[in-house]
Amino acid sequence: MEVIIRPDKEKATDLVAKIIAKAVQHKPGLVLGLATGNTMEPLYAELAAIHRDEKLDFSLCRTFNLDEYVGLKAEHRNSYRHYMNEHLFSKINIDIRNTHLPSGTARDLDSECEKYEQKIKECGGIDLQLLGIGKSGHIGFNEPLSAFFSRTRVKALTPTTIAQNSPLFEKPEDMPKRAITMGVGTILDAKRIVTLVLGKAKSEILAKAVEGPVTSMVSASALQLHPKCVVITDEE
Ligand code: GLP
Repeated sequence: MEVIIRPDKEKATDLVAKIIAKAVQHKPGLVLGLATGNTMEPLYAELAAIHRDEKLDFSLCRTFNLDEYVGLKAEHRNSYRHYMNEHLFSKINIDIRNTHLPSGTARDLDSECEKYEQKIKECGGIDLQLLGIGKSGHIGFNEPLSAFFSRTRVKALTPTTIAQNSPLFEKPEDMPKRAITMGVGTILDAKRIVTLVLGKAKSEILAKAVEGPVTSMVSASALQLHPKCVVITDEE
């Protein structure tokens, strides 16, 4: 695992944008794993700016998001599909049919999870997976004690995650308590992983993830096992 510390949030975010832009230039049909959360908003704005100003071409890219809330329709303003359309997909020239998120409203959630894994396989696997880390140490929504071999499935969210994400909901109590998420095993199968973690509030969990023991108590510590993982962070 390589850890790169940039002086501030902007420089760390710019570096991740450059890495993604270079990967897309190098392989126009890149299979890109995507994440959500506040950390990613400036990153997606930067990618949209690179597309606008430097004509970065996403037309052949395929994307797979890490997770989606169970029970939220795609149109719900707090769904991750809505987040991705708003922050990235509507601002670049990607074919929306090539963008994938699990459906949180599928009638059969288990079969939705299996289909998601299958689709990733059919696309040849994820070339570059972008990740953030939640305060509980989760990657995707792999809460503590997620098996390192886990695949896409439904997970119950922990009180820490509910406390972190519920303020984004109009009525915080409406935040779903379950989500579909790629498993830790699914994430570790990506050929390359780029993790962006910013700010003081994440410093303690980041230290556990990169310097602590590899343990399912901190899902992000599984990244230490990946042969090609870079963590980009700021001084704070
Ligand atoms: C959510 C997502 C994670 C993301 C995390 C961090 O819980 N499921 O994939 O890494 O938020 O979010 P933020 O960047 O807002 O701290």
